[in-house]
Amino acid sequence: MIPTQGPFPSTRFRRLRRTGALRDLAQENHLSAKDLIWPIFVTDVPGADAPVASMPGVERVTIEGAVRAAEEATSLGIPAICLFPYTDGSLRTDACEEAWNPENITNRAIRAIKAAVPDLAVMTDIALDPYNANGHDGLVRDGIILNDETVEALVKMALAQAEAGADILGPSDMMDGRIGALRTALEGAGHPDVAILSYAAKYASAFYGPFRDAVGAGGRLVGDKKTYQMNPANTDEAVRLVARDLSEGADMVMVKPGMPYLDICRRVKDAFGAPTYAYQVSGEYAMLMGAIERGWLKDDVILESLMAFRRAGCDGVLTYFAPRVARMLG
Ligand code: PBG
Repeated sequence: MIPTQGPFPSTRFRRLRRTGALRDLAQENHLSAKDLIWPIFVTDVPGADAPVASMPGVERVTIEGAVRAAEEATSLGIPAICLFPYTDGSLRTDACEEAWNPENITNRAIRAIKAAVPDLAVMTDIALDPYNANGHDGLVRDGIILNDETVEALVKMALAQAEAGADILGPSDMMDGRIGALRTALEGAGHPDVAILSYAAKYASAFYGPFRDAVGAGGRLVGDKKTYQMNPANTDEAVRLVARDLSEGADMVMVKPGMPYLDICRRVKDAFGAPTYAYQVSGEYAMLMGAIERGWLKDDVILESLMAFRRAGCDGVLTYFAPRVARMLG
């Protein structure tokens, strides 16, 4: 590296920290509402549109509530929301057929939101867990999570979402071969412009606990997700997964969880330069909110936590803090 600074006192780093104006000029990374994707839990189960206990400040909403949230996102300058369904227990089956029902809660919410605020990008989740009797992201037979059969189901689910008007599909299931299968199916079905944001490097994490409460999959989960989600000890594998998903037609890639995996974000961005996102997941949100609510931390930690993703090379972040952050940023 070329030496660009002399020894003290010709170099004094504090010169550029002296005033707010100088600090602004010297700031390397920026955070704006435009960098955020807001995850929302939507339900039509009577009484389920209620606060999520393990995620203070987050509640499940009806389709009308999701439309209001979409309007709020638009007015706050947030470019995208991401929908997660909470389905009735009777619709959670071993075959997961509700996942590709054109009239399921997600697909109805997509249509309602696109009708009300067509310019807002609507992202969806592609995984079977909200529709699965056993809480897994894939079809299960004899205790085994089936890969290829699951991919066929995911394709049907994706086509129904694309048909409903989703802008970005988020396969979060971690089955092998799904990005290629989804891309081929979308091209074949006349949806060449639907984007895929692959949950490419998704770890088997304990930080997803509150989310599983929110979608009602936690109590149902039989076993764990370690045969399809990544081992938190691995790094090279994340790079290989991202390479694989980009080669199969992913437009954007995600690292998940976020804060404990910033090293992965940086490696992925450096290796590919592709649009890279992190998911600040439910457990990260719960940790920060728990401390903020008790007065142990000030809410400045929210902005600091999000700037960390920008610094690590992320183009954007999925975060439950999205509307609060947009307001904090003014
Ligand atoms: C399910 C899915 C999960 C999350 C997003 N999609 C949970 C899981 O894999 O068990 C987690 C999001 C969060 O914790 O905020 N496919």
